[in-house]
Amino acid sequence: MKLFLTKSVQHLRTPLRKHGFDLCESEIYHFADGERGYRLKEQLLAESVGVIGSVLPDPQSLFDLMALHQVVRENGVEEPTLIVPYLGYARQDRPGRPGEGAIGLMVIEILQAIKSSHLILIDIHSDRIRKALQPTVRELSALPLFAKALSTYLPEVVVSPDAGYLSRARQLSGLFNPHLEVAFVEKERPRPNFAIARSLHGNVEGKTVIILDDIIDTGRTLVEAVKLVVRSGAKKVYLAATHAIFSGEARKRLSSLPVEGIFVTNTLPQIRSPKVRILDAALLIRNALQHLATLSA
Ligand code: R5P
Repeated sequence: MKLFLTKSVQHLRTPLRKHGFDLCESEIYHFADGERGYRLKEQLLAESVGVIGSVLPDPQSLFDLMALHQVVRENGVEEPTLIVPYLGYARQDRPGRPGEGAIGLMVIEILQAIKSSHLILIDIHSDRIRKALQPTVRELSALPLFAKALSTYLPEVVVSPDAGYLSRARQLSGLFNPHLEVAFVEKERPRPNFAIARSLHGNVEGKTVIILDDIIDTGRTLVEAVKLVVRSGAKKVYLAATHAIFSGEARKRLSSLPVEGIFVTNTLPQIRSPKVRILDAALLIRNALQHLATLSA
């Protein structure tokens, strides 16, 4: 498949190429006032084409994705596949406090308005967003990558750092043979960007534990969860999270914890840092597109 990449996913060029994608070039030009224009640098025939880009905090990334998709459509590809490795704003799937809005659902409406043959996302943040995207979305999961990478360390328990991710922890547990035990932390957010782990439901005493989350932002959710499982007697702790934002001091915060390894994917750009192991989300995209191709053959 031919792929056009927005600026948000340039870090995936090498992995995508390695997995056999034919990467196409496009360019952005500017009007005097800063307005952006988008131009493909090659002609498209009737072929299978996708556009890949993440929705980052800067809304420009969403606009780039929509515009590049539109330009590809206008240049001969009726409904290009749309691949969104990281969907920002998904944490705003409901108003947090009076006077706020469900901005995440607004982003979903925008994505759905783009005419794509397939919309592919990786580890969607919440059921609310997942439901809002049905039936158009195909969701890929990093769980098989985590299971494969972590199986050599013989984990015994998967811990969700909050009640919301418990179903995913169960799914990860089911990828091991025999299945792992599952536990979860009762988390509170006294204010935005802070977390308190109140209590642990489940037994981790003397066990090797994976704490699984979808996002690492400030890292405070995982810091709290690690402290709690260590206090509860865990023998060894591994962390796994699909979308590693690592805002501010998050890397430092996490690398000073008593954990053996932090497994993340490259849905977002990553730099090498102590204990962090980066798994390749481009592999998930390749597998999904190969599967779709066999279905339509
Ligand atoms: C929350 O619902 C998410 O699943 C993550 O737990 C959260 O986004 C992590 O944020 P932070 O790293 O800032 O605690």
